[in-house]
Amino acid sequence: MRIDIVTIFPEYFDGPLRVSLIGKAAARGDIEFGVHDLRSWATDVHHSVDDLPFGGGPGMVMKPDVWGDALEAILSGSSGPRPPEARPPEAGVRLPEARPPEAGARLPGARLVVPTPSGVPFTQDLAARYAAEPWLVFACGRYEGIDGRVVQAMRARIPVDEVSIGDYVLAGGEAAALVMVEAVGRLRPGVLGNAASAGDDSFGGQDDPAMRGLLEGPVYTRPREWRGLEVPEVLLSGHHAAIARWRRDMALRRTAAHRPDLIAALRDLDRRDQQVLAEAGWPPEQAPPSRSG
Ligand code: 6GU
Repeated sequence: MRIDIVTIFPEYFDGPLRVSLIGKAAARGDIEFGVHDLRSWATDVHHSVDDLPFGGGPGMVMKPDVWGDALEAILSGSSGPRPPEARPPEAGVRLPEARPPEAGARLPGARLVVPTPSGVPFTQDLAARYAAEPWLVFACGRYEGIDGRVVQAMRARIPVDEVSIGDYVLAGGEAAALVMVEAVGRLRPGVLGNAASAGDDSFGGQDDPAMRGLLEGPVYTRPREWRGLEVPEVLLSGHHAAIARWRRDMALRRTAAHRPDLIAALRDLDRRDQQVLAEAGWPPEQAPPSRSG
């Protein structure tokens, strides 16, 4: 697959895309990365990429013209800024109704992902869908965000997703893009050493239906005893059914403690599941209704 990233901090990606599983996938050519400096599409002497917000308020907004030119160039396959002769004619020489030559022309293949705290939640399911795409383009905003017309205009041409990696605010989309690249990249065929190791992850469950929708429990390796702490006996038993049941018990307990919302969404709990959850204090005591409403 191909992944392009547009940012005012291209150096942010220098290390992360070169190390570990993602770095190896890139070196093998399984994932082809293009990191682009948004400023190379700025047109004024100061290379401005932002301006004051219409309507007032704090901070700055990223300019639509710079973003539009950058995305247009990257999606049309010329990854650098386009030479002046290849640019659409200036607005002044067109009739008011006329549109630039390529405006509205469908650009095939790519999906635009805009990291933003106001986006849809990034989930393992979305990561799996992205891993099946041939081409992702991440548009990393800074400041108060990108002029709203950029997403609006791009939606007419390619699929566009505004995506959040969690309920907190980052200074820009770069860290979020890296998070998504790693989650997507490790699902590509051949990126994980052991093809099965994506299956039993928290939220995975592709290979192991018994763990679907649950957080992974604890794992252990040698030595069998460390600082007086023993590895749970069942894991040494060689009794595969008992080990699987123990792992599900631990997953249920951890999920009840850390993510009660996931327990509420579980279907088909067997008697043992219900017993484990009851022992873990599930369901939690209801808070009394507040009198103020
Ligand atoms: Cl995707 N971007 C930014 N700037 N902040 C975030 C986020 C994304 N997801 C959560 N917080």
